[in-house]
Amino acid sequence: MTAFDRTLKIAPSILSADFAAFGAEVRAIEAQGADWVHVDVMDGHFVPNITFGPQLVRAIRPHVKTVMDVHLMIAPVDPYIDAFADAGADILTAHVEAGPHVHRTLQAIRAAGMKAGVALNPGTPAEAVAPLLDDVDLVLAMTVNPGFGGQKFIHPMLDKIAALRGMIGDRKIHLEVDGGVDATTAPLVARAGADALVAGSAVFRGGSVEEAQIYGENIAAIRAAAQG
Ligand code: DX5
Ligand code: ZN
Repeated sequence: MTAFDRTLKIAPSILSADFAAFGAEVRAIEAQGADWVHVDVMDGHFVPNITFGPQLVRAIRPHVKTVMDVHLMIAPVDPYIDAFADAGADILTAHVEAGPHVHRTLQAIRAAGMKAGVALNPGTPAEAVAPLLDDVDLVLAMTVNPGFGGQKFIHPMLDKIAALRGMIGDRKIHLEVDGGVDATTAPLVARAGADALVAGSAVFRGGSVEEAQIYGENIAAIRAAAQG
């Protein structure tokens, strides 16, 4: 990964991609302006949906030229950290709600050579991550309940995003927002202090590997709205 900076990152979530064509989809979104590639790992236990695991992450890795941003919605996390490191994750994010020892988890992620992220569900207060800020490279605020793409943005989360931004201060920690981000909600989260915007359906909607310029238009629209 390149040096830390707080310029806006658009991170398309491949949860909304064609699951039969991940390699081509990743290449298409990067060619169309994605800054990071957001990879949603779900276990059917921590969240009510199942996606894929470290083997799929490893298969995607050679296609990712930017940053592979892996969001774990699994519990437990610790038994799988080395597998995701071996698979080539750049950022590995675990939920603060995923177990009783999140501090240990974050240390283990860094020890395995990755950037460590901590995610908060909508029902979890910002303060839950306050004791962890010296041990993370990214805070991910969920603005939907995790598990599915295409859900509606939960507006009261904007106050929490602003609170997290205040807590982060000058620390080299990205503030990422995930869920219901589109050209309408992007300006709100950017104004509240987010610098990394995950977007699934709003990026992939209407496009395909064959019509990848639509991904580019969608990414550009979100970026322009956030910067406007
Ligand atoms: C939700 C995932 C998100 C999801 C976002 O559980 O963590 O990354 O793919 O999808 P949209 O942008 O469609 O809300
Ligand atoms: Zn996600």
